[in-house]
Amino acid sequence: MGRVADKACVVTGAGSGIGKATAFRLAEEGGKVVASDINFESVQKVADEILQKGGIAVAHETDVSDYLQCEDLISVCVKEFGTVHVVVNSAGVNIPGVFHEVKNDVIDKTLNVNLKGSMYTCRAAIPHMLEHRNGSLVNISSVNGIVSEPFLTVYSASKGGVVMLTKGIALDYAKEGVRCNAICPGWVDTPINYAHAEMMGGLEKIYEEIGNFQPIGRPGEPIEIAHLALFLASDESSFMTGSIVSADGGMTAQ
Ligand SMILES: NC(=O)c1ccc[n+]([C@@H]2O[C@H](COP(=O)([O-])OP(=O)(O)OC[C@H]3O[C@@H](n4cnc5c(N)ncnc54)[C@H](O)[C@@H]3O)[C@@H](O)[C@H]2O)c1
Repeated sequence: MGRVADKACVVTGAGSGIGKATAFRLAEEGGKVVASDINFESVQKVADEILQKGGIAVAHETDVSDYLQCEDLISVCVKEFGTVHVVVNSAGVNIPGVFHEVKNDVIDKTLNVNLKGSMYTCRAAIPHMLEHRNGSLVNISSVNGIVSEPFLTVYSASKGGVVMLTKGIALDYAKEGVRCNAICPGWVDTPINYAHAEMMGGLEKIYEEIGNFQPIGRPGEPIEIAHLALFLASDESSFMTGSIVSADGGMTAQ
C-alpha cells in the first residue's frame, strides 16, 4: 500500500519544479493525480511519464488565476477519480522589481496566480472533501511568506497571503476532516528564481554565496519539498492543520 493509496490528488504548477516532483511522489505512493499547469505540453509529459511507470495520472491545462478554470480543474478530478482528497497548490510566479516601479499588471498577476489561484482551487475542492470528511490542502507558500527580501515585496505580500489563507481554512474546517497546511521553501533550484537571481548578480554568484543566507550552503532540490508535500497530503500528518512548515536549509532560523 502506498502512503496516499487511492487518494484523488490535484497538483497545480505540475509542469515544472516543485509541483512536478510532487506529482511524481504522489503517484509513486499510490495517488491518482490530476497534473495541471498553464503550460499543457509540460504537464502532458509529466502525466505520460507517470503512466509509463505504472502510476495513474491525467494532464489538464489550467490557468489558476481564472476561478472558472480552477473549478473546471476540480471537476476533472471528480469526473476521473470520483472525488478530491488532496490539492497541492504549487503554481506560482515570481516577478521581482523595485517596489515603486512595479506595474499594475505585475501586481495583478502575482496576486492572481499566487494567492487567488490557491484560494480558488481550495474553495472548489472543499465541498467534495466535506462529503467524505477527509481532505488535505497543501499550499506552497515561501520563506517570503514569513520574511521578505530585496525586490520581492509584491511576491512576499502574495505569499504572506497564502500563509493566512492556510490558517483561515484550517480553522473553518478543523472539525470537519479537512486539513490545510502550508510549506515555506527556501531557495530551491528551479526556473522561478532566474529573474530574481539576475537582479542579484546572476545565478552562479548566488550559488557561490548561498551559505550567506541559506545556512545549509546549497539550494534545495524540488524533491526535498515534494517529500514534505507528500507527508502533508497523507494521513500521516493527521494531527496537523494550520501549520506553516519551513523547508529552507535554515534560512528562517537566523
Ligand atoms: N523555487 C524556489 O526557490 C521557491 C521558494 C519558495 C517558494 N516557491 C514556490 O513554489 C511554487 C513552485 O515553484 P517552482 O519553484 O516549482 O517554480 P517553477 O517555475 O519550476 O514552477 C512553477 C510552475 O507554475 C506554473 N504556472 C505559472 N503560472 C501559472 C498559472 N497562472 N496557472 C497555472 N500554472 C502556472 C508554471 O508554468 C510552472 O510550471 C511556487 O508557488 C513558488 O512561489 C519556490
